[in-house]
Formats: sequence, C-alpha cells, structure tokens
Amino acid sequence: MYNAFFGFNQNPFNMSPDPSFLFRSSQHEEALANLIYGVQSRKGFIVLTGEVGTGKTTMLECLRDFLSSQQISFASLFNSRLTVEQFFEMLSYDLDLRCNRLSKTEVLITLNSMLLERASAGRTTVLIVDEAHNLEWDVLEEIRLLGNLENRRGKMLQIILAGQQELDRKLEAPEFRQLKQRIALRCALKGFDRQEAAAYINSRMARAGLPEQTVFSPELIEEIQFRSQGIPRLINAICDNLLLTSFAMETRTATSEMLDEVTADMRLEYPAGHAERPFHADPAYPERVMRQAHLPSRFERA
Ligand SMILES: Nc1ncnc2c1ncn2[C@@H]1O[C@H](COP(=O)(O)OP(=O)(O)OP(=O)(O)O)[C@@H](O)[C@H]1O
Ligand SMILES: [Mg+2]
Repeated sequence: MYNAFFGFNQNPFNMSPDPSFLFRSSQHEEALANLIYGVQSRKGFIVLTGEVGTGKTTMLECLRDFLSSQQISFASLFNSRLTVEQFFEMLSYDLDLRCNRLSKTEVLITLNSMLLERASAGRTTVLIVDEAHNLEWDVLEEIRLLGNLENRRGKMLQIILAGQQELDRKLEAPEFRQLKQRIALRCALKGFDRQEAAAYINSRMARAGLPEQTVFSPELIEEIQFRSQGIPRLINAICDNLLLTSFAMETRTATSEMLDEVTADMRLEYPAGHAERPFHADPAYPERVMRQAHLPSRFERA
C-alpha cells in the first residue's frame, strides 16, 4: 500500500523466502556454496542450522533453483510433522516413483533401483528436509537409513537437513550418534552485523526500485540492527512497519520515534541505552519475539 508513495515497484520487505531478493552476505554465500558443493561431491548428509528467521528456507530455495537448473532430481519436504507413512508417500510423490506409494517396502525397493540407475549414469539425487528440528524420531531414523544407501562412488542420496538449533541438539542424542558422525558438512546462519544489516536493507530497497534510499538514515539502520540483532526476518518486519508508519504520516523519512513505536508494537525486547552494547542475546530471543510479533493494529493492511 505504500509502494507508490516511496517509488517501489514491489514490496521491499516481503516475508517470503524469495531468491530474487537474495542478499549475498558472506555467511549466506558460504552456506549456499557448501550446500552445492556437498550435493555435487556426494557427501551424503549436510546440515544447515540457524536461529529463527536467519534465512535457512531462503538458502534452500536458492539451492532448489540451482538443482533445477542442473536437472538434478530432488524431493523437498517442508512439513516435517509427518508420520513415517506420510514421509514415504511424499518422498515417492516428489521423486515420481512408480509404485504403490502407501507401501513402504515398495517405495524402498523402487527408490533403491531408481538411485542405482541414476548413480550409475553419474546423476545425483537429493532429499531436502526443511524444519528438520520438528522431525519425529522414527522419521529421522528412516532418513538416517536412506543415508546408508551407497555404491562404490559414494552416497546415492544426498540429504540436506535444515532447521533451528534444536536440530543440533536432537542429533546429539545417543541413537543418532552414527548419523552425526556421517554429517559431512555443517553450516550455520546467524544475524547480520551492522555493516551487513545496512547492506541488506539497502539491497532489498534497491531491488524493489529505490537504489539510493534516504528513508532510513545510517544511524537509524544501526539502531534497527541492534534491536533486531541483525535477524533478517525481524529487520524485514521492522522496516515494513516503519515504511507503513512513514506513509501514514506522509513523510519519506523514518525517525527514531517511529522506530520506538514500531518495536514497542512488535514487543521487541532489547537492553535500553547504547551503553550496554554489545549485548549477547539469549538463544531463544528471535523465537520469542516472533511469537509475540504482531502488526500495529492502528493500520489497516491493504
Ligand atoms: N540472505 C538473504 N537475502 C535476502 N533475504 C533474506 C536473506 N536471509 C533471510 N532473508 C529474509 O528473511 C526472512 C526470513 O528468512 P527465512 O524464511 O529463509 O528464514 P528461516 O531461517 O527459514 O526461518 P525459520 O527458522 O522461521 O524457518 C525472509 O523474508 C527472507 O526473505
Ligand atoms: Mg524456514
């Protein structure tokens, strides 16, 4: 609703994990390079962890674009709250396995022969599981077993598990010691530092049609980074609300008063006063904030 007012051709702070808005921070660049390298070199298990809203799903979207461009087959599970039966059904659906998808035995036999065939033709197959911290133990166990399928040239199925930090804790459990040992690559995402946050905000606004933005001053961006801890989703939520507030007040410059109002509305908690910087967040911080976050009630969304 504020796009025309500021001169955007699309919403700069959309909450969706859209690769066309990708900001290539060094950690995101490295994570994506790791995912691609892991798949291409048939490493087997790759784990991507990070706090809530740091860009894991966005990375997976970018990986999927890459896999599609290379004609690499993949199955992609987003809803990780699955039963074992649903897991095999979705897997066979995504990989287009021609068999009775409700029979685990048939799915496994068909999958095995498909993987053998593809591996002997030098082709790679990938399983991507997002929100893997939510996986039930028995589904995680099935995934571990799928990771055992190998021929002499390496793992036949490349498995990427992405999830919040609980995933790391889950993989610490004794029954997953073996899986843990087999994780060939690990990458972790965290919030942006000050410079990255500024570059991130400017890059999203440029992408949306405002290359030299003056809505957010460098000082305000510094404060946004501080209050959001550089978590991209929180930055998006704050900036979106700031744009909305500026628009409502018919000004093209966001102020620190507006930021106070927006972060109060979002119930963002952060230490008062700059003297206390830098502060170390408790790991539950972004999750707690996202649970509490709500849009300012005084604005009706278009
Ligand atoms: N490198 C990036 N470039 C552009 N946008 C990003 C980047 N990283 C994160 N974002 C944005 O931040 C928001 C949250 O990202 P995403 O949904 O990928 O996080 P997540 O880690 O999967 O979160 P969750 O833990 O809730 O699943 C999205 O709007 C996404 O577009
Ligand atoms: Mg996600």
